[in-house]
Amino acid sequence: MTILRVETVTHGVEDLDAGIRFYEDWGLDCVHRGAHGADFALLSGQTVCVRATRDASLPPPVESGSTVREAIWGVDFVPTLDALADELSKDRDVRRDADGVLHTQDPNGFAIGFRVVRPHTEGAALPPERLNRPFDMPARARPKRIGHIVYFSSRANERAVAEFYMQRLGFRLTDHSLDLGYFLRADGARDHHTLGVFGFLDRTCFGHMAFEVGSFDEVMAGGAAMQSRGWQAATKPGRHIVGSNIFWNFKNPNGGQAEYFNDMDVMDDTWQPRVFEKHPGLAYWTLG
Ligand SMILES: [Fe+2]
Repeated sequence: MTILRVETVTHGVEDLDAGIRFYEDWGLDCVHRGAHGADFALLSGQTVCVRATRDASLPPPVESGSTVREAIWGVDFVPTLDALADELSKDRDVRRDADGVLHTQDPNGFAIGFRVVRPHTEGAALPPERLNRPFDMPARARPKRIGHIVYFSSRANERAVAEFYMQRLGFRLTDHSLDLGYFLRADGARDHHTLGVFGFLDRTCFGHMAFEVGSFDEVMAGGAAMQSRGWQAATKPGRHIVGSNIFWNFKNPNGGQAEYFNDMDVMDDTWQPRVFEKHPGLAYWTLG
């Protein structure tokens, strides 16, 4: 069983125009727009869909207001999809739609799904060294891929949710802060985390979605461009301690926050998960 990455995230949004404008300014390419909402595609082929909260085609929300209504995970092969259907249908409703996508819920009630994907990495390679090539400052961000999503959970459910993803879906534990939550990675992914399950707020809601950009400078340029367009930062730019990535988060009218990130730790199966009794802190440094 191999889950590769977050594939498609669908929002239900109270202010559809603001939600769409946010992702346009964020640097995503809009590939379809209509009265129902808009679809955005990243260079990786991952997609973000923005719909109205009242859209009857969406799974029910776990919280009021704008939020993520479904996260679809990409898997490697049809047999993986079949194995997931067999495993998950033991204790929950699992529906396979006309496109072959599985739909179900995690223990917190967040709608999740699975589909077979053929990831392509076009445009996602690191830039070559600047031999005979003067530095070219990006004017704004152009996210390459979705790296991770984070759900907040009640304290009571946090462990059960993390164990669902680990024991039922094959996610691996990267790090665990007892006072914050779990950092997990899909079994086909190498980022420090593709999923966070954080109980420290003792509240069930969507946390954030993180978009990888090509460089530290692109994080800064992207954030500056967002601020110049009137979007409100949720954090200062900085470098996380757990995961080590450069980050800059913004309040997302589609729900939770959106994060630009770059230079996250990469792990393989020799990694020994760390357990922090006390979270080591948000960041090595933040700017300002
Ligand atoms: Fe993040």
